[in-house]
Amino acid sequence: VSRIAVLTSGGDSPGMNAAIRAVVRTGNYYGLEVYGIMRGYQGLLEDDIYRMDNRSVANIIQRGGTILKTARCKEFRTPEGRKKAYDNLKARNIDGLVIIGGDGSFRGAVEFSREFDIACIGLAGTIDKDIQGTDFTIGFDTAVNTAVQAIDKIRDTMDAHDRIFIIEVMGRDAGYIALHSGIATGAENILIPEQKTDIEALVASLQEKERRKKLVNLIVVAEGDEFGGANEVARVIKERMPQAEARVAILGHIQRGGAPTCLDRLIASRMGYHAVECLIQGRRNVFVGIMNNKMNYVPLEKVGKKKGTINEEWMKIVKILAS
Ligand code: F6P
Repeated sequence: VSRIAVLTSGGDSPGMNAAIRAVVRTGNYYGLEVYGIMRGYQGLLEDDIYRMDNRSVANIIQRGGTILKTARCKEFRTPEGRKKAYDNLKARNIDGLVIIGGDGSFRGAVEFSREFDIACIGLAGTIDKDIQGTDFTIGFDTAVNTAVQAIDKIRDTMDAHDRIFIIEVMGRDAGYIALHSGIATGAENILIPEQKTDIEALVASLQEKERRKKLVNLIVVAEGDEFGGANEVARVIKERMPQAEARVAILGHIQRGGAPTCLDRLIASRMGYHAVECLIQGRRNVFVGIMNNKMNYVPLEKVGKKKGTINEEWMKIVKILAS
């Protein structure tokens, strides 16, 4: 490859900028021409493509969001859309593409790389941590730390008023944010999509705690929990325990923003660097993850959503430590 491009796609996540910076600077270090594509595949279709030099990524390693902006693009799912994308890259002789995003973004890249001679490299940028082949995704650590800070604050009120708090965190179909932030904030219960929610057992445990005057209870719920999220859980608790003071807080997009943590900047920098190394070595269509602190390369088509891998032992720890 001699010319490469980078884009961010799907939901933004803190650390994407650090990854863009690493791709641009590593590419320039090796004498490649590096281009930035605005708004993910959408900008690729619309030819919203710019040359990036080292200065264009100055002062961004500490910033959340993505300077390239991001989008979810339907047109790229069609063969016509992908042809347009290819033509725009070819017009600039770009033959390597780094995609920073989630599994949906990789599926588009797999199709694209099958149809055209563009080497695609995928980096996991999502707060959900729901991608196979990597222990970390760019943004997860920041998101859980944001959730922990928010829950700690809510805990003050919970404690002052002896309340039950049901706090909903993001994560789409995965419970990683809930599990990590829940353990770190000492939650009494953590409800995640990977495990069936036994609402009767939950109510019974709250009633039992009430009998022994333990009125403060923190329940962290993943938004994808099959029982229906924090509002639904609160509705049942209020119905069954009308005397209890239960409140809901939905943390929402606060979890997607803010300055990336050290860990997110570090993994984003390593992944961005290795993405370019891959392109230089002639690797095509691979996903670059980190497992057991080593780089892990997986064919892009084999990378899917990570689900159902919640550690049973962790759930036991939640139970024991919350008693
Ligand atoms: O994938 C990241 C994520 O924040 C999920 O946790 C959440 O379900 C989703 O994106 C929200 O998407 P949007 O910002 O489009 O509402």
